[in-house]
Amino acid sequence: MTDAEPVHVAGLTLRAPLILASGCAGRELAAYTALDAVGAVVTRSITLDPRPGGPTPRVVESPSGLLHSTGWPNPGLEVFCATELPELVRLGARVFVSIVAASLGEYAELARRIGRTPGVSAVEVNLAAPDAAAHGLHDAREPFHVARVVGAVASELPPGVPAIAKLRHDPLHAVEAARSAADAGAAAVVVGNAASGVLPDGRPAGLGGPAIAPLALQQVREVAGALPQLDVVGGGGIRSADDVRRHLAAGARAVQIGTALLHDPRTPSRILEALAPAPSATEGP
Ligand SMILES: Cc1cc2nc3c(=O)[nH]c(=O)nc-3n(C[C@H](O)[C@H](O)[C@H](O)COP(=O)(O)O)c2cc1C
Repeated sequence: MTDAEPVHVAGLTLRAPLILASGCAGRELAAYTALDAVGAVVTRSITLDPRPGGPTPRVVESPSGLLHSTGWPNPGLEVFCATELPELVRLGARVFVSIVAASLGEYAELARRIGRTPGVSAVEVNLAAPDAAAHGLHDAREPFHVARVVGAVASELPPGVPAIAKLRHDPLHAVEAARSAADAGAAAVVVGNAASGVLPDGRPAGLGGPAIAPLALQQVREVAGALPQLDVVGGGGIRSADDVRRHLAAGARAVQIGTALLHDPRTPSRILEALAPAPSATEGP
């Protein structure tokens, strides 16, 4: 496989403009896609203490997307740093650790500890839990909440470990939220997160996949157009190299892929191959 072109995001050089989205990829994906060939792997959202996760079903298919309501199952910071993180690093991944917390103080503590852990390239602040309050998590619903959370995280990170703000899917306030995040110290924003939906049993859920692709692309275009100095990472319904190109053309520096990994874990390899520059034509005699 030839390499896709490297890109610069949040002061980091990524090997390719394709990032594996939070909660959709872990070490098990290495059997299908070389984790050292993608731009970065974002871990599932990690909390200070272990969380068992919510009731099943946690993932439900909808006509054109996937609904998820996981309740953020994870082993907690300490066990994560001793097990999942070193394994991803060993596989050659550039690791962005996603964090989610119950309070500003918890966000700050997570940032303080994760930012100093070897192998961590960036901290992605999850501001988008569609069911935050129901799960006892801090609800960063409004742009001013975004500023407070990002400020609490960014001020605790050492130089060289950027804060990346993963914004809520919000067609009305995307630019405002991105500006708040940047002003508070985010080096990049992720735009095009799961939209708010509901499971058939009535529980709030995130909707990802093709259903949200045009909505996400529009938010990327708006944010990148309004804030040209800010690094924007697009996402939402990415399935092909053409989807990635559309986001890059809309102003994104890189793109995250989530649901498509659950449909076919080889998707990133296929996309990277299609993104690779064509070999230069050989000179004639
Ligand atoms: C099963 C599942 C688990 C997810 N877990 C997380 C998570 O822990 N943290 C987070 O920020 N996003 C999480 N997401 C959201 C994805 O990272 C992604 O932003 C969203 O699904 C939109 O992208 P997509 O359309 O490519 O799926 C999860 C998505 C799915 C499908």
